[in-house]
Amino acid sequence: MATDWDARYDREDYLFGTEPAKFVVAHGGRVPQGAHVLAVADGEGRNSVWLAKRGVRVTSMDSSEKGLAKARRLAEEAGVSVAFRIGDVAHWDWEGESYDAILAVFIQFAPPALRDEIHRGFDKALKPGGLLLMHGFAPRQVNLRHRRAAGRREHVHAGPAAPRFPGLRGAARGRLRCRAGLGRGA
Ligand SMILES: C[S@@+](CC[C@H](N)C(=O)[O-])C[C@H]1O[C@@H](n2cnc3c(N)ncnc32)[C@H](O)[C@@H]1O
Repeated sequence: MATDWDARYDREDYLFGTEPAKFVVAHGGRVPQGAHVLAVADGEGRNSVWLAKRGVRVTSMDSSEKGLAKARRLAEEAGVSVAFRIGDVAHWDWEGESYDAILAVFIQFAPPALRDEIHRGFDKALKPGGLLLMHGFAPRQVNLRHRRAAGRREHVHAGPAAPRFPGLRGAARGRLRCRAGLGRGA
């Protein structure tokens, strides 16, 4: 089923570029080679392909066929293998203790109830000792430059993530300054 993201991705170049998010470069090194990562709502694949180039085994999921096709092309051009899956996070089968790490970059499309469901899915799908890497807007940013997030303040992951993941420990929280908000390199 076509999504509004298909229309956004229907262009020759890559909407968010082909370079990984700065956050992924900053923290992706924590994922050891050979580890299995689930990249949630991975879009055109900039983050999953970067991880795969580092020797990480990546499963990438997204609901956009168009995004997935471009992600597949990016992986082919980089000469890496990524397991691409089309799917909706709302109906995703969060297989228990399946991944060493989960990567979620800019998934603020999810309203609070779905967001909570997704977080429960993360908790379930991570192996014991697994790593959760999440990157998104701070609430103060949503009405600034990013039109799609504007008016969706309640979708943003307000407050520290740690209380929502009682099973996780060692949560680190940081800020990255990005000139263009969500966009190339952000
Ligand atoms: C802002 S983009 C981020 C893409 C990618 N994570 C990145 O950083 O380049 C949000 C992505 O969420 C995907 N998405 C939106 N709703 C979804 C859903 N219900 N299930 C899975 N993916 C979804 C869109 O197709 C889009 O690729």
